[in-house]
Amino acid sequence: MNVLLTGGAGYIGSHVLRALKAGGHDGTVYDSLVKGHAAAVAGARLVVADVADAAALKQALRANKIDTVIHFAAFIEAGESMAAPDKYFRNNTLNALTLLEAMNECGVKRLVFSSTAAVYGNPDRSPIQETDRLAPINPYGASKLAVEYMIRAHADAFGLGAVCLRYFNVAGADPAGDIGEAHSPETHIIPLVLEAALGRRPQVKIFGDDYDTPDGTCVRDYIHVCDLAAAHVLAAGAIAPGAVGVFNLGNGEGFSVKQVIETCRTVTGLPIPSALAPRRPGDPARLVASSQKAFSQLHWRPQFPDLATIVAHAWNWHKGHPQGYGDR
Ligand SMILES: NC(=O)c1ccc[n+]([C@@H]2O[C@H](COP(=O)([O-])OP(=O)(O)OC[C@H]3O[C@@H](n4cnc5c(N)ncnc54)[C@H](O)[C@@H]3O)[C@@H](O)[C@H]2O)c1
Repeated sequence: MNVLLTGGAGYIGSHVLRALKAGGHDGTVYDSLVKGHAAAVAGARLVVADVADAAALKQALRANKIDTVIHFAAFIEAGESMAAPDKYFRNNTLNALTLLEAMNECGVKRLVFSSTAAVYGNPDRSPIQETDRLAPINPYGASKLAVEYMIRAHADAFGLGAVCLRYFNVAGADPAGDIGEAHSPETHIIPLVLEAALGRRPQVKIFGDDYDTPDGTCVRDYIHVCDLAAAHVLAAGAIAPGAVGVFNLGNGEGFSVKQVIETCRTVTGLPIPSALAPRRPGDPARLVASSQKAFSQLHWRPQFPDLATIVAHAWNWHKGHPQGYGDR
């Protein structure tokens, strides 16, 4: 495959680029670097441009003879999306339409889309299956679900083949330790706890302990970024013309915020301070995936399902790169 990775200089895209290359595929990164890092894709072909720029997109698709697009580029903070929904619908939804139009015009018919567990909102049951009710409770989730609907319409009308991957909480880092999570601002729990372990934050905040969960803190399903990356390679290989596949990607086990902090204390051997803070708006109590469909149809098998291993690989990256990539 000859793949264009929009948002490929970000956390997940940089790991997927590596998995594609390891699988013998070619990858071109297309990223405005609004959040990403050139150093995360050092040595790769990098087009620095915005997905909003239709002309630059078409040029990148044609010049690099792209046959498959993996669309990561988006803003990713559910909390921010509550205060700035316009920012999220513009970048995540409108720009995805620009991409779909550019692909159609250039005859590129294969797409993998980074969707999210946030499309489910507060789910009716756990673990969540792909056919469960779609009812996002924040504009971030809505901005992504809208793209799933657009993809389905483009498949029906124009023969686009696509796979929408609904990621649960992505964490960890390449075991090599040279690429990892470096968001700014960071809102994800594992890097936040590890930054507190490194003394870069005074403490880690627990946003709410009055949820309807065993210890009152939010429960999430953590998936290793390398396992997620492997699923992208399988998903891209499984694209069928005119069809849209939808897959949850998680490990099927929920861990509370308090359990994650305890695991980080065990892995680092450090007494990481924590403090209770009010709930964040737009946070569901519990999100746990059933990934049976990915197991049976993509033959996906996570290599690092264990939370302690996920944290250990993240710790390896953060210890070695306390300033992230050092570019912002
Ligand atoms: N990290 C998670 O746990 C998680 C969970 C569910 C879904 N996702 C989805 O996965 C994708 C990647 O997430 P991530 O954690 O790697 O985020 P990230 O912020 O690290 O990467 C996103 C990349 O997209 C780029 N980008 C954003 N808008 C752009 C635009 N208009 N034009 C060009 N480039 C643009 C950024 O510069 C960045 O490099 C996102 O679509 C996100 O919604 C992430």
